[in-house]
Amino acid sequence: MNELQKKILALKKERDCLILAHYYQPLGVQDIADAVGDSFALAKRAQSASQRGIIMCGVRFMAESAKILNPGKTVWLPAEDAGCPMADTIVPADVLALKKQYPEAAVVCYVNSTAAVKAVSDVCCTSSSAEAVVRSLPNRQILFVPDKNLGAYIAKQLPDKEVILYDGCCPIHDGVSLQQAEAAKRAHPEAKLLVHPECRKEVVALADYVGSTAGILETARKDPAGSFIIGTENGVTDILVRELPLSHIYALKPDFICPDMKKTTLEDVLACFEGRRTPIELPQAELDGARKSLERMIAVQ
Ligand code: 13P
Ligand code: SF4
Repeated sequence: MNELQKKILALKKERDCLILAHYYQPLGVQDIADAVGDSFALAKRAQSASQRGIIMCGVRFMAESAKILNPGKTVWLPAEDAGCPMADTIVPADVLALKKQYPEAAVVCYVNSTAAVKAVSDVCCTSSSAEAVVRSLPNRQILFVPDKNLGAYIAKQLPDKEVILYDGCCPIHDGVSLQQAEAAKRAHPEAKLLVHPECRKEVVALADYVGSTAGILETARKDPAGSFIIGTENGVTDILVRELPLSHIYALKPDFICPDMKKTTLEDVLACFEGRRTPIELPQAELDGARKSLERMIAVQ
């Protein structure tokens, strides 16, 4: 622990704050968190937080979800300009137009979306809960927004559903080509390929395991002497390299990096305690509408 990390831990206690961090965050930030998790685990942890404040080390939709699920708390996003480009591919008017076109469909909204989009959707999902959420719905027709890759993966798992896809994606995961995945497998033929469902379907088709960041970590941890190619952002690779010295962990590609997730610094976290960051605020209609969709997701698990 360096001096800044120790200072943050002392302030956290003194100010009664919970620090949460996503697995893609820099390791030094993960190290000062009370809990590190995937989007689903972080949302649940924020919902049950009893502290006065929550500092969400991640991107904006994660901090918004914390505020929506636990509105009485003060919630900060340390790197205030950390967004998710996938969330910006859709606005409420797009969802409303699709709803008109497919009136029988249930709208399932990936949590990587704005509060306004969640508010006009029927239910949210994360990569670890998407299959269970879609399965739980009585509707045969599902409008899945905004991630076409996760939507296509779920459609394959649940052939009884008709899944209508929106044309959004994560530029970081969708940026992995089939050729890059094949090259990684050729370079490490003994290694299992573990892939996030935000990747393109041709990359997902090559994988030995497909799942959320938490699922990928759990799969590698079960075999601490195994060989794995990590098909998601390199924060997950960094965790495994540090934690499993006997295993062989390879990044699918060296620049598998989400620049927004890497914006958070310890200095940003300190700034939350020093009044240099503005707590998350959302219009009441967005808070109420989005809460219904998020709570419905959590109730499924
Ligand atoms: P997880 O829910 O799997 O952690 O994914 C979050 C994310 O942003 C993936 O790009
Ligand atoms: Fe958004 Fe992709 Fe970054 Fe995840 S990795 S936060 S989906 S841009």
